[in-house]
Amino acid sequence: MGEIVDERELERARRLVGEAGRILVLTGAGISAESGVPTFRGEEGLWRRYRPEELATPEAFARDPRLVWEWYGWRRERIAAAGPNPAHLALARLALDRGGVRIVTQNVDDLHGVAAAEVAGGRDPGPALPLELHGSIFRVRCTACAERYAHREPVDARSRETLPTCRHCGELVRPDVVWFGEALDERLLAEAFGEAATADLCLVVGTSAVVQPAASLPRVTLDNGGRIVEVNPEPTPLSALAEVSLRAPAAEAVPRLTGEAGRAG
Ligand code: OAD
Repeated sequence: MGEIVDERELERARRLVGEAGRILVLTGAGISAESGVPTFRGEEGLWRRYRPEELATPEAFARDPRLVWEWYGWRRERIAAAGPNPAHLALARLALDRGGVRIVTQNVDDLHGVAAAEVAGGRDPGPALPLELHGSIFRVRCTACAERYAHREPVDARSRETLPTCRHCGELVRPDVVWFGEALDERLLAEAFGEAATADLCLVVGTSAVVQPAASLPRVTLDNGGRIVEVNPEPTPLSALAEVSLRAPAAEAVPRLTGEAGRAG
């Protein structure tokens, strides 16, 4: 991509990370871009090629569950072939090595979870496990009995009859992700907003910051006297509010920001 981290800005951001007692990390699709997982908006984004109302709404699933599962099956395969990149790993280390860090993600790809397990080794990965605001592509939820469980098997979406069914009641299951028009889990949301209100710093990585309510979290930190640091190659609506905006890809900037990679020069 060719972006180079601005050293002065990086140094300011490192200081803010170092000084903060509590840090809320908010991530979006951009943090997984360098792992090979497509983002939603932007030139190569999924929403350029696909229509969300045909694939990511409860109405779309009711109308054509086969089509929706085909798309999620395809995304699962892409994600399953990907691994965490240096940004996921650096954040997991930050969360495990110092207290007071909470990772909140809009991503459904579980790459923060994989990074947490990888970095934890024998330790408890708990502090590095994210709040998954939009659910997980590797979980399913029953459309009839609301049973919810991990499900990583390949999906056979050739026909309605081959789609995955509930291990409990045998009815059709759906991906356990939040679709357009659906509410987020209230308990998760309350926890995320609580974290945002008490954070000294909100580190925002790889989100276009246009989807609510996640996009409000950094503003809550700001309103409560905290600061925002952003990592994104492109400007976003948050850039004007951020103390520092690092215009660089996450895998390059985040490890340096958290003190993983040695200083340049
Ligand atoms: P978007 O696709 O809207 O935004 C991705 C952001 O990542 C953009 O601002 C890019 O500039 C930035 N980006 C791209 N490459 C990057 C890199 N290498 N390093 C850092 N940043 C990079 O994704 P989200 O903001 O996550 O919702 O989208 C929010 C929600 O909209 C998603 O969770 C999804 C979608 O519809 C649901 O599925 C419910």
